[in-house]
Amino acid sequence: QSFFKPIHGASPPSATSRNTKISVIGVGNVGMAIAQTILTQDLADEIALVDVNADKLRGEMLDLQHAAAFLPRTTISASVDYSSTTGSDLVIVTAGARQIPGESRLNLVQRNLALFSKIIPPLSAASPETILLIVSNPVDVLTYVAWKLSGLPANRVIGSGTNLDSSRFRFLIADHLDVNAQDVQAYIMGEHGDSSVALWSSISVGGVPILSFLERQQIAYEKQTLEKIHKEVVQGAHEVIGLKGYTSWAIGYSVANLARTILRDQHKVHPVSVLAKGLYGIDGGDVFISLPTQLGRNGVLGVTNLHLSEEESQQLQKSAKTILEVQSQLGL
Ligand code: NAI
Ligand code: LAC
Repeated sequence: QSFFKPIHGASPPSATSRNTKISVIGVGNVGMAIAQTILTQDLADEIALVDVNADKLRGEMLDLQHAAAFLPRTTISASVDYSSTTGSDLVIVTAGARQIPGESRLNLVQRNLALFSKIIPPLSAASPETILLIVSNPVDVLTYVAWKLSGLPANRVIGSGTNLDSSRFRFLIADHLDVNAQDVQAYIMGEHGDSSVALWSSISVGGVPILSFLERQQIAYEKQTLEKIHKEVVQGAHEVIGLKGYTSWAIGYSVANLARTILRDQHKVHPVSVLAKGLYGIDGGDVFISLPTQLGRNGVLGVTNLHLSEEESQQLQKSAKTILEVQSQLGL
């Protein structure tokens, strides 16, 4: 019996249109920043939270449910059981160990590889049509691992990659030039980490290529000024981790930004970690690194064919090799 009386002649309600379901695996700093941003931005009809820590799970679920009066209507569930993710349109994986101050992301590989071998197969079994969005670090290696273990096609296994690094990059350039970060078109490619590559040659501000913009403005820039900005991007996470112990808000917005593009089929280009073999001259093996990629409801729609300078191309190859070296020791 519905709470509301039907109006005269109304036909009985048809089955609700296909709900959009997002599962978030790992309800730590990052998982919860992502979940609350997805809620605030009304990106899903249902959010399923999964973790091993049952009390934390229930606490986070109740705490989000208690905000219902201020948020779009969204069903929020929480379970230690991976079957609760059944029928997910998007599965976002943040479970795993995080760096301690001074530790590199690559250092986490063994701990998080063991974890992935347990959690990825049940996730793809419960949602064979899903798109897997990997966030746990080292994200490029773990996206490769998720692709291998899930059996899903490469277009539906994506790593958050340098979508976050590129946002840091755009912030720093915008701050340097006193413009809005949303008017700065700039990509970081390669590893989400210490070997990432800043694509100076393709950066534009309000449609104006940055290098000629700086020349025209007679803003003196030496190479080291640009490299200093890239270094701040690479150091960005280490600095935040050293100050607050982890990063969460920027990655939360970065992943919700990707979820919107995918679930709303936006066909937008994002720098994300994809199977890069055979692209940009990368041919040393199956490697996931960040390339400017068009995303939509079916995941990866295609990779752009940017012109790279000789130096940028070499740095990208080096970044791919760094990841492949770590992968070669995994025994996968
Ligand atoms: P956290 O320690 O706050 O949360 C990790 C969560 O994973 C915990 O709640 C833990 O109970 C859960 N977990 C552990 N084993 C699990 C399992 N078998 N199944 C389900 N859940 C399990 O860590 P935080 O800060 O949330 O970071 C999580 C991961 O995200 C780390 O690997 C971190 O490096 C990575 N990260 C990646 C970023 C990126 O740009 N790709 C940015 C920030 C963090
Ligand atoms: C970042 C690390 C934690 O925030 O991956 O970039």
